[in-house]
Amino acid sequence: MIEQALVSVENLALVSALRNSTFMYPLVNAGHILGISLLVGSIVPLDLRLLGFWRAYPVMVFVDVLRVTAAIGLALAVVCGALLFATAAADYARSPLFQAKMGLVVLGVLNAFTLGRMMKRQNIRSLPMESSMPLALRAGGLLSLGVWISVLILGRLLGYF
Ligand code: HEM
Repeated sequence: MIEQALVSVENLALVSALRNSTFMYPLVNAGHILGISLLVGSIVPLDLRLLGFWRAYPVMVFVDVLRVTAAIGLALAVVCGALLFATAAADYARSPLFQAKMGLVVLGVLNAFTLGRMMKRQNIRSLPMESSMPLALRAGGLLSLGVWISVLILGRLLGYF
């Protein structure tokens, strides 16, 4: 049943055209990589600030700017990733690497929402600039770093296994 639905996705006219196109597939792949760069390039400095780097700069400067660019990067990665997935949906869905990658994407998103809620609750806008972040925020930042870098590595490995 699910297998049939996935095969029908693969056979959609748009998806077949993408799979067989010399230019479209690499362009969508480039869009995926652009999204990943924006996401990881935003998340790494943001998480490092939560962990205690660059304390001379207000944490909210990092949070306000980088969470927007991270969200735009994630949206681009998800849209282009879904198109890449559709070209061989049944095979990807069976792959333990792909399943692990999707599980970690969900964990990363949930962790980001939890961090956002904790920042509000702990009112970090009013923390003195040089003070270290509460332990829960540092733990969330560390988890975020580990999760998104693992997603990136699993994504790259997918091309080899
Ligand atoms: C719902 C979200 C996503 C979906 C459905 C998805 C799907 C895919 C698919 C189908 C591929 C092609 C694999 C292959 O070479 O056969 C891929 C590649 C890749 N993905 Fe994702 N992805 C998603 C999000 C992400 C995110 C958030 C990251 C990074 C943090 C990421 C990192 C990568 C990397 C590094 C590659 C290899 C790109 C290359 O070397 O050409 N993906 N993804």
